[in-house]
Amino acid sequence: MTIKSGKAKLAGVMGWPVSHSRSPILHGYWLKKHGIDGAYVPLAVKPDQFQDALRALPQLGFQGVNVTVPHKEQALRLVDHLDDLAARIGAVNTILFCDGQIFGQNTDAFGFMENLRDRAPMWRVSNGPAVVLGAGGAARAIIVGLLDAGVNEIRLLNRTLARADQLAAELGPQRIKVWPWDQRDQALAEAGLVVNTTTLGLNGTDPLDLALDLLPAQAVVSDIVYTPLETALLAQAKARGLHTVDGLGMLIHQARPGFEAWFGQAVSPDDELRAMLVADLTA
Ligand code: ATR
Repeated sequence: MTIKSGKAKLAGVMGWPVSHSRSPILHGYWLKKHGIDGAYVPLAVKPDQFQDALRALPQLGFQGVNVTVPHKEQALRLVDHLDDLAARIGAVNTILFCDGQIFGQNTDAFGFMENLRDRAPMWRVSNGPAVVLGAGGAARAIIVGLLDAGVNEIRLLNRTLARADQLAAELGPQRIKVWPWDQRDQALAEAGLVVNTTTLGLNGTDPLDLALDLLPAQAVVSDIVYTPLETALLAQAKARGLHTVDGLGMLIHQARPGFEAWFGQAVSPDDELRAMLVADLTA
């Protein structure tokens, strides 16, 4: 919080619960770093009060908010204007209030792709198919990001096959090929990228069971789980000499568009911010 005057700009994150959210740390860091007169606060809002709370925020002078679990789908239905990415992903995570209107965006695809380019600059669309494990909300955003980046083939695998089929049908069956979950070791052949979007590996329990032997040496292995920062999957990939990308950067990059829109300042990740988040995650 770096409130300096009565003109301070306001933003925050709406969730239920919201106490686990790292967004206030992230935005608070950038507000302080850039000496901005503003505040970013956690807003614990129950699902049945989300609509009223959202509509009250512009009246209270807020510039906008992030929206997290469980409000992302409800936000999609309530905004006056929905951007194309949010519509395709099926969820809103960033809201702007402007001229009495509510604008909904989704920055997760941007966050994933920016982090990939930042942490794996040698990755190219032409390196081979992208293997996506999982078919939940995070997978949808990542697949949209990969499709828009020009990936020719996405191999999608999910424990519940029907969910993968549905996702492929909605987002583009020409480039999204659904594989059975038990074929995941084989799906890695010729791949240029593997992304775990499942909750397997979260908090060190129940690791993703995946043999990386068929993965080409130039392939990048990415995990969106960031607690722990080095999941069993990433440790296994490192042991094989593969390039890895952890999930913390996606969290940082997805926050950038909101901050820039609300507070009028371009921001980027840096070592101090990463260290601050790591310290919080390991506390
Ligand atoms: P999010 O919106 O964060 O992506 P989600 O919608 O709950 O979360 O999706 C979680 C993903 O992890 C799903 O792909 C889920 O597979 P199912 O669709 O079959 O449920 C996957 N997942 C969770 N636990 C799993 C497990 N034990 N084995 C394999 N996949 C699992």
